[in-house]
Amino acid sequence: MKKILMFLIAAHACFAVCATTYDLDGMWDFRRIGTDDWEWQRVRVPHDWAIAGPFDEELNDNTALLPWVAEGLYRKHVAISREDMAALASGGEAYLEFDGVMSRPAVKINGAAAGGSTYGYLGFTLRIGRLLKEGDNVVEVKADTTKQYSRFYCGGGMYRGARLKILPKGHVVPGSVFIRTLELTGARALIGIEWKNDDGSDGRREFGIDNPRLWDVDDPYLYETEVDGVAYRYGIRTCSFEKDGFYLNGRRLQLNGVCLHADLGLLGMAFSKDAARRQLRIMRDMGVNAIRTAHNCPDPQYLDLCDEMGFVVWDECFDKWDDTAGWTGDTDLEGYIEGVLRSFVKRDRNHPSVVVWSIGNEIPPQTANYFAGVEARRVKRFRDAVAETDPTRQIGIADCYLENIDEYDSLDVTGWNYQRKYNNMKLAHPDKAVLCSESGSGYSDYGYYGDGRPARWRIDYDMVRHQTCGYDRNAICYGDIPDPIFHRIEKDAYCCGEFVWTGMDYLGEPSPWIHWMDGVDRHKYAKSSSYGIVDLTGFPKDRFFLYRSHWNGREETVHILPHWNWDGRAEKVTVMVYTSGDEAELFLNGRSLGRKRKTADMPDYPLEHKTDFDTDPAYYEICAKYRLEWEDVVYEPGELRAVAYRNGAEIGEDAKKTAGGDVSLVTEFDPYSGADDEIFFVRVAAMDGEGTLDPWNASAFSIEIEGPGEMVGAGSGDKLDRTSFHSKVQKLYYGRAMVAVRRLGDGEIKVIAKPTKE
Ligand code: GAL
Repeated sequence: MKKILMFLIAAHACFAVCATTYDLDGMWDFRRIGTDDWEWQRVRVPHDWAIAGPFDEELNDNTALLPWVAEGLYRKHVAISREDMAALASGGEAYLEFDGVMSRPAVKINGAAAGGSTYGYLGFTLRIGRLLKEGDNVVEVKADTTKQYSRFYCGGGMYRGARLKILPKGHVVPGSVFIRTLELTGARALIGIEWKNDDGSDGRREFGIDNPRLWDVDDPYLYETEVDGVAYRYGIRTCSFEKDGFYLNGRRLQLNGVCLHADLGLLGMAFSKDAARRQLRIMRDMGVNAIRTAHNCPDPQYLDLCDEMGFVVWDECFDKWDDTAGWTGDTDLEGYIEGVLRSFVKRDRNHPSVVVWSIGNEIPPQTANYFAGVEARRVKRFRDAVAETDPTRQIGIADCYLENIDEYDSLDVTGWNYQRKYNNMKLAHPDKAVLCSESGSGYSDYGYYGDGRPARWRIDYDMVRHQTCGYDRNAICYGDIPDPIFHRIEKDAYCCGEFVWTGMDYLGEPSPWIHWMDGVDRHKYAKSSSYGIVDLTGFPKDRFFLYRSHWNGREETVHILPHWNWDGRAEKVTVMVYTSGDEAELFLNGRSLGRKRKTADMPDYPLEHKTDFDTDPAYYEICAKYRLEWEDVVYEPGELRAVAYRNGAEIGEDAKKTAGGDVSLVTEFDPYSGADDEIFFVRVAAMDGEGTLDPWNASAFSIEIEGPGEMVGAGSGDKLDRTSFHSKVQKLYYGRAMVAVRRLGDGEIKVIAKPTKE
């Protein structure tokens, strides 16, 4: 256990009062209780008790076929020092902070009940000074997901960080500090800080900053100040959703956003700041500037990263206002939701990245049959609770029910999921800000391209092979591939932007290989979604480059697809090029196959989502505006190369080569991991002697780690593969897989992948 001395005041020469933080991350004893009655084991918190599996097809595919429904007990011994006990005896307090426990945690200290919470996505703090003693203390946390309902994987247990703070008399209550910009003119900012003292009184301080450097997505500048010996970061900026767009520091910023669930792929729900940073680096490379924390309160450190890296955040508290929000049914629903909203806003209100509070997602209208629904009075009540806790930000909701359109008078901004629903809101309430809070729900897999020809129409899925095609021509029936959305949002200039469903594949909701899809064989239910622009492990799919070509204004994109290994599999192959340029020339073994140019505009292409487009190839006409396509290229092995241009000037090139000869397994450090990360990712790939990926390779391999490291997860983007993420034997998926490693000490760590039998 790390014991961090945060603050030391010498009140008298011979007397010191200290504030201590005991970091409670790290090793705990854990056992399942109830039917399983597992033995005690040592686990590392943050910990997700279900991610090791096994995947079980008898379990719910919505939640990844994983055994998260359980009860579990965590126990840790904490040695409290004499000085800390003295601080408590003389009027101090001890605060036990959890960033999130899934779910319904009940905490005991030395056998005595200390309190708990019900909503697994929101942390909580307990005052436990009265329960501590000098020397050994036992902290026990019981988690229970048996009454939890979720539409996607939520994991189980102490999946986020925890700590114990012991503070002397006269301290500022942790979590009470609120830092805000009271006034901002170009030359000066007036900053106000408010807090609660332990005696119940309020504290307040104001100060000015001349020529403030504003926090922005391109320059996420953070200031730091101190309250009661603790450092707090804050940013100075203005943000506003207006009827004609979103403004950051007075400049209109188009939101190129993604929705992201809280799981971290191979790591499950167990939070890792390094893995989250890597995820955000991948998003940044794609040109993302906004994150929607679908549909729950993120880990507080996730928002620290967004502050540091310059993402604006649509901070969402709930999916629905029901048991998915931790409501147990025995309290007044509205009072409960209001209370959670207040705690959520209080927790996150110092983050400059947070630009809006979202009070829910796709909540049906209130009717006699749906008690937890949307109605204007209820929305206003929740809105008022949020505004009271933070008067500095706007408040919104994400919805898909057009019947709710007239219920949102009290909100500043509404997000509409899919199609052009935001336009319905715009027509009904022209002065309101709108955006597309969920766009996409496109499907694709890394590496799979059918028989070298794209899917015929939007819902033409490969029901035989249960793979979604990498040509980016599939989407769920109510969703769209990227191109028509780019076009629609360009035309609807009032729309603040889009949040694509989803930035990465996530565990659970494994559409389209999900139980409710016609023709899907139970034995082939997938474990994760296909919606991601990036796969579950962090490999960018081709779609990544389509978004990148449209969104990343800093760097050029030239990306060619598919791979070029079609011997005996296809005679004619469709080739696409995703580029930030406006033209490209394609070469096969040095011979030009022609230069193609994107269509500048297609003013007649329908902006509305048309259901008859589900099975109509005309749907794809708009792709000519955003991608380049060469149909029926006669296959021959060798090199396929694209050279891209803008306004006639070359901007870059990309090539795909045919892999041949001997193939071996190669490991390489994932380029989005940080060199100093404690948890980092390593790519495993089957390569020929020249470093060309063998895209059909599905070999099994074993993982060995040499040096001070341990494997914490491994797998591929294959949604049908049910091998445990903790297994040291994995399989390549279209030539690739990923291994996540934890550094345990100094020294070189070697990750070795060896061919093996399954
Ligand atoms: C939306 C919903 C998301 C996800 C998505 C899949 O309706 O808000 O949580 O289920 O559909 O397309």
